[in-house]
Amino acid sequence: MNPGGDALPRGQADQQVGPTGVRGENTIVGPLQDTEMRLHCSSLDFPLVAPRFNRNRSAMTREKVTPDEIRAMKRRGEKIASLTVYDYPITKLVDETGVPLLLVGDSLGMVVLGYPDTTHVTMAEMEHHVRAAARARPRSLLAADLPFRSYETPADAVAHARRLVAAGAEAVKAEGGRSILGPVRAVIDAGIPFIGHLGMLPQHVLEEGGYHIKGKTDAEREALLADARALAEAGAFAIVLELVTPPVAKVITASVPVPTIGIGSGPDCDGQILVTPDLVGTFPWFTPRFVKPRLNAAEQMREAIAAWQASL
Ligand code: KIV
Repeated sequence: MNPGGDALPRGQADQQVGPTGVRGENTIVGPLQDTEMRLHCSSLDFPLVAPRFNRNRSAMTREKVTPDEIRAMKRRGEKIASLTVYDYPITKLVDETGVPLLLVGDSLGMVVLGYPDTTHVTMAEMEHHVRAAARARPRSLLAADLPFRSYETPADAVAHARRLVAAGAEAVKAEGGRSILGPVRAVIDAGIPFIGHLGMLPQHVLEEGGYHIKGKTDAEREALLADARALAEAGAFAIVLELVTPPVAKVITASVPVPTIGIGSGPDCDGQILVTPDLVGTFPWFTPRFVKPRLNAAEQMREAIAAWQASL
């Protein structure tokens, strides 16, 4: 997710990412339906602007996306869009756009929790954010990352994957190929859909001393191919390729029957995933080089806040 090693890691940005604010006791918390919302609001002492639910009917009526559907998209030659989500409103919003695959990524650590890298993210933090995202009840498939050191043995991997599923995840992702095949097979045997993650592995950033592009040498290319084939044979329904050289990502994509979802790995993967704050500009202190932000939300927020403050 981060480009070359010279880039400023997200968490070392000069801003502290803090909680969004204290909520008053009348604040509505949770995914209330329209009717519940109206009833609840009528008992309040101050007017609330009712959220405009149901703005996108097609998103609400579209069929639930399954792992099989993600695989079928590759067979049909349809590009697979995927974005990270970490909370209720953004999950609801991204789901309404029809993006089929959502990931509660452990990038959570940097773009939401203010850690320097993903190795600090705990299982409890992942569960907390998966629960929040799942409350949006997305039609999109909701996957979640197994955090650092949570899948070192098959038994550990299954226990932690089950916890993420209990929190609302419909699939889990873990980093590595043949080196984690035991845990991967155990998760899949337990009936939990699994997404692989190859190339630059952010949970290995400390031992690798930075975020390095993978696939530059013949040895790396062969290892990546063997890892991708092993994950597909084990039953992974998709494989994320992060910072893999574009020619190698293209070869892997043509060599495995399951979709590859690229990030910083060129245009020839079956799909693309981005860290949503990178796309919409809500984490402006660091943007990976391969991302073209489509919105500068941070600047718009600064302007809106300044205008409101000036209007007081
Ligand atoms: O944690 C994350 O957001 C990810 C994606 C970048 C693939 O793993």
